[in-house]
Amino acid sequence: MHRTHTARAALWPLAFACMAIGSAAHAQLPQLGVQAPIVIAHRGASGYLPEHTLGGYELVIKMGADYIEPDLQLTKDGFLIAMHDSTLTRTTSVADLFAKRNDSYFVSDFTLAEIKTLTVKPFGAAGTAYPGFTPVSVDPYRVPTFAEVIDLALSLGTNTGREIGIYPEAKQTDPVMEDKILATLIAKGYKGTDKVFIQSFSSVTIQNLHDKQALLNADFNLVVLSSSSNVMVAFGLDKIKSFADGVGVSIGGAGISEAFIDLAHGAGLLVHGYTFGKTGSVGADEYAKFFGWGVDGVFSNHSDIAITARGAFVAAQMPEPGTWALMDLGLAALAGAALRESKASASDAPGQPAGGGS
Ligand code: G3P
Ligand code: CA
Repeated sequence: MHRTHTARAALWPLAFACMAIGSAAHAQLPQLGVQAPIVIAHRGASGYLPEHTLGGYELVIKMGADYIEPDLQLTKDGFLIAMHDSTLTRTTSVADLFAKRNDSYFVSDFTLAEIKTLTVKPFGAAGTAYPGFTPVSVDPYRVPTFAEVIDLALSLGTNTGREIGIYPEAKQTDPVMEDKILATLIAKGYKGTDKVFIQSFSSVTIQNLHDKQALLNADFNLVVLSSSSNVMVAFGLDKIKSFADGVGVSIGGAGISEAFIDLAHGAGLLVHGYTFGKTGSVGADEYAKFFGWGVDGVFSNHSDIAITARGAFVAAQMPEPGTWALMDLGLAALAGAALRESKASASDAPGQPAGGGS
């Protein structure tokens, strides 16, 4: 029995469709763009070492974090430094070294030279050392400038052969801070096609950055933060998408849910969740829940735990080995049938002499 040419031609699309299904089966992830979620080292290695220090950033880069997160403050003399709080009290030795000032120790009242005399203290469960880790940085537990954080990422990126992402947060709603963040990134060679996200709790700051970077021919990824997903929805996800690439939401805040993540994805927005700080099985369950909901990135105090959880999540999304075997058998059968039909068509094609030869 001879198949018609129409029937033969129908085999190839079927084979290609089957191959396409096979490719998609490699990435059955609920994340936007079916990309595996990123691990953002929240304040560096804040679960292990003094936060926002070169030593901490170095540890998480070596653990394999995708991005390091410097929160940014401005010194009295206009330098961007990596620091979460607007004061130096909680995380540094300022009260010991500058006791005579007896003030509130605002970062904005201190020069960079003064801040460079301080030591950063561990906070919470963090310590002053991590087992088996000796930082290469000369001053691993001083307050670094934003420029020094970038230099470390570039240097270790070269050493490790992978691009280390930078995820700075503008901690003040301040046009000067906006300008300095953009200027620093551009001066270091970044343009926007790189692994850079700039974040802020101020939608005004993000809108300003959106407008300013366009004038500078840069295109950094921008993220609006909020402790409440409900507030984001009320503000308008489509509106946020007009000037930002993603939202950063509290994983313990109002309105956070799989439905919210679906809504944000529907608007074309990435969703990064903060802050993952739990350990053990409770921590593993929390990562698994949010990865399953489709969160595109996690701000984590323990990058190693986040990376392990991500690996388990991605592996769990892969088809069972038995499914792969069946799919491979199906593909092989289809390809074989198509090849046989193709050869047969060459021998009975109209206008070709039987037996061929010249
Ligand atoms: O930037 C996301 C997350 O870091 C917000 O929390 O630590 O800056 O207060 P935090
Ligand atoms: Ca932050």
